Amino acid sequence: MVERTRKSWLNGAVGYEIYARSFADTTGDGFGDLNGIAEKLDYVKWLGIDIVWLTPIYPSPDHDHGYDVADYKAVRAEHGTVADAEALVERAHSLDLKVLFDIVPNHTSSDHAWFQKAIADPTSPERAMYLFRDPAPDGGPPNNWVSHFGGPAWTLDEASGQYYCHLFVAEQPDLDWRNPDVLDAFDDIYRFWFERGVDGFRIDVAHGLLKHPSFADNPKVSDPGPNAGPLAHFFSYDHKFDMDQDDNVEIFGRWQAIADEYDATLLAESGVTDHHRLARYVGPNALDLSFYLKPGWLEWDPATLIREHLDLAEIEPDGISWVISNHDQPRPVSRFTRSGPFDDTRSATGIARSLAVTTLQMALGGVPFLYYGEELGLVDAAIDPDKRQDPVATRNDSDGGEARDVARSPMPWDSSPFNGFSTTDSWIASEERPLHETVEAQRADESSPVYRYRKLIEARKAMPDMYEADFERLDSPSDEVAVVRRGSVLVIANLSAEEVTVTSAGSDWVLAFASSDGPCAVDASGVTVGPELSVILSAGSR
Ligand code: GLC
Repeated sequence: MVERTRKSWLNGAVGYEIYARSFADTTGDGFGDLNGIAEKLDYVKWLGIDIVWLTPIYPSPDHDHGYDVADYKAVRAEHGTVADAEALVERAHSLDLKVLFDIVPNHTSSDHAWFQKAIADPTSPERAMYLFRDPAPDGGPPNNWVSHFGGPAWTLDEASGQYYCHLFVAEQPDLDWRNPDVLDAFDDIYRFWFERGVDGFRIDVAHGLLKHPSFADNPKVSDPGPNAGPLAHFFSYDHKFDMDQDDNVEIFGRWQAIADEYDATLLAESGVTDHHRLARYVGPNALDLSFYLKPGWLEWDPATLIREHLDLAEIEPDGISWVISNHDQPRPVSRFTRSGPFDDTRSATGIARSLAVTTLQMALGGVPFLYYGEELGLVDAAIDPDKRQDPVATRNDSDGGEARDVARSPMPWDSSPFNGFSTTDSWIASEERPLHETVEAQRADESSPVYRYRKLIEARKAMPDMYEADFERLDSPSDEVAVVRRGSVLVIANLSAEEVTVTSAGSDWVLAFASSDGPCAVDASGVTVGPELSVILSAGSR
């Protein structure tokens, strides 16, 4: 077999996640649409982005905000049409932007025609596309697996007396990836969109596809405590038998081979935290890229943040998509500053910390992604707890603070009503954002967060060594500081609360970018960097 290499257009690229229903609404129904996204691509391009990823745009009964897909080869009416999707891709290409869609292969919606047939006729071929199993001897679920969103991962199909498996809500039945019909059906879905110009996919729950054939109980490894939310319950098990099975990688290789025919890319969403196991997801016989989600789960914990980034980058220098933010986590400005009322000082600290981590990510190879609004330094949206829509909140007595609505509010474009997102209330009840958090205000002020992100991306592009030259981890004054050298570029991420002097890289460096206005000085003793500050330096004489 000829070994493949990953797409050249990924080299040095920076990605941007668009939560499709919250970006821009052109029809006045409060729900973002494809034409709205197409109209805003100029802004995305201005920011320096190369690749946009849209969350699912397919018809869905919305039990999990579009991650319950009822038809993979169509567009939901509120978002537009397949022709609009094609026009969006064309517009993106005219700006030299690539477009990734989101594919959801672990499960379908229970409204999908396959599941409807599976339920209606237990002898149908569609029945075998899902994971129906007989009850345990006591009549209960076949094993102890739990859903991410609370309760057992099994629901009884009363008509047949069998249970079906769902790692998320009951309206998201899991597919049986050991059934060749399922493999064929998804090959066809990929081709459908590749033929329409889509440049790749983010693969939802890529680590969930195959289940261990034994369907054995998962070992319980910790006690999540009395007020734990459903996700904490889920993670109190070792998911030995329902997640990250060794043979998932064979499916990835098959898909990437299809994508390669179209010069398209595939990017796994993987919750795997073991660096060596995650590294298996990418490479010549697997996918081009995988997200590493853990930095997006962490609160402000400098030593862990540094270790998680550097250890993985050493193992996998090209294939990781680095993120601190996505639609499933609180926004980092809030998450990195957990205490105190939200005032300008807290917000400035959160923005500085976020930028300090993202600056390090830009030096780790792979394709870093921003989440829409991250570049504006948005804090979590204010959403009345009674108005939450996330099943993590609505289906559980306690969500343990895990509800994901806070990161899904409309993009604040300007100071007009509804922040210019729509001409009416949006699908999610959130307060309007103040002027300084809008695109309009920040683009008029060169000292704003959006300019700092833009300069960061510009700096990376201006210094290709930052992602092309060999990755060297140099000695650092503390475990809260990263010192990375890549050829003619030096990146120091000082996440500690103290000023530090780095002596391991010499002193022939010139400052090219600083993540905030803190002090950075280069002299004979080395490079001195202020607290919670990351800097990019280029080789040259002082
Ligand atoms: C992924 C998505 C999340 C969704 C889940 C189930 O983790 O990012 O939003 O709820 O998969 O599809």
